[in-house]
Amino acid sequence: MVHHGKIRPPGDKSLTQRALLFGALADGISTVRSPLRSGDTASMIGALRTLGVEIREEDQHIVVSGKGRNGLLTPDKDIDCGNSGTASRLLIGALAGHPFQSRLVGDDSLSARPMRRVTEPLGLMGARFAEESGDGLPLVIHGRALKRLDDFVSPKSSAQVKTALLLAGYVGGVSVTLRESPRSRDHTERMFRSLGQELSSDEDGTVRFLPTTDLNPFDVTIPGDISSAAFLIAATIMSQRDEITIEGVGYNPTRTGMISVIERMGASVEVVSQYEQLGEPVADLMTRASVLTGVRVAPEEIPSLIDEIPILAVLAARAHGETTFEGVGELKFKESDRFGLLAENLQNIGVEARAENDTLTVMGSKRGLAGHIQTGRDHRMAMAFSVLGRLPDVDLTFSETASSSVSYPGFFEHLDSVS
Ligand code: S3P
Repeated sequence: MVHHGKIRPPGDKSLTQRALLFGALADGISTVRSPLRSGDTASMIGALRTLGVEIREEDQHIVVSGKGRNGLLTPDKDIDCGNSGTASRLLIGALAGHPFQSRLVGDDSLSARPMRRVTEPLGLMGARFAEESGDGLPLVIHGRALKRLDDFVSPKSSAQVKTALLLAGYVGGVSVTLRESPRSRDHTERMFRSLGQELSSDEDGTVRFLPTTDLNPFDVTIPGDISSAAFLIAATIMSQRDEITIEGVGYNPTRTGMISVIERMGASVEVVSQYEQLGEPVADLMTRASVLTGVRVAPEEIPSLIDEIPILAVLAARAHGETTFEGVGELKFKESDRFGLLAENLQNIGVEARAENDTLTVMGSKRGLAGHIQTGRDHRMAMAFSVLGRLPDVDLTFSETASSSVSYPGFFEHLDSVS
């Protein structure tokens, strides 16, 4: 039977979170079209409302009444970031330069995730914080005037760290120069630039930002999330389906590492049309069932596919031969300890896998797999193994799969249509 379908993944999470926060810090009313609506974006909206921002949610878009460069209001309660690392770290950057005290909280997973990676460099700008339980949340932000940051070399490639510093520069009206290698996703740089700010970024990971004026309000359409599309692409590759087109996916080169890796493994992904929105490349991607071979994924590729490692590990489990993901220690600090938990789940269902010395190794096989998946309430763990669980010779049970709504409400209906 020949299958050919089209599917549109939900809006990009990184871009929706940024557009909401940029809208709140712009001078006027902004419209965010085709946003992601999920647990994480609801956390950002709730947090911004606590900071006095009026946000109206319509059917197809969200309207944000911006407060200007440093016009957020003193919150009268804790700012709850839920499960969202991006909301918490970006807000820490934006709040560091607001002249009031605020307290950030999150769910159990987020409370255990490191925040010093943003508070320490922000401290170099004069920001002040009080930790309540070590390196995590709750965190009290003592907002104040900030000073410029010169030649900061980021110890890790993290778009959240980079964005927190750039937002602090914007709110504080001070310049920021930083470098990271390899370069992490550059949505913040593109967004600032496309909204008229003076920001330059080089291929080598250097960013120079000289905030000049308040952000102008904007009207943007958010492209589809390539990190969500990744599950549909993987399901198609492993199924008997001939072809599927994934429409309107953000195709920013700092996010497409997964596509390069699966092409190296033997998959076919064709860009059938490409255009641009708010300085971001967008594409329609056509993919089909393919036979995969294991590959080495090098440390310098990791930032461009950091969120796709769970689904790549699942593909590796069904490939011929061994796949290694090198330099992936950062996975320990995601929504779950993905480094340990991925290997554990794979072993528990009959896949040969190891997590050692920041390298994850997966040995592919075609044998039947069965067992229980502990998701750690991590949306990407739940979705990656759900894709695997749809294969005819795989029989999985799950601790839960509701966490998928953190980034992809409607995931299971989409998965039904491709598997
Ligand atoms: C994100 C950056 C990445 C990514 C996360 C979203 C962002 O985190 O894993 O899902 O929107 O900036 P790190 O900055 O910690 O690598």
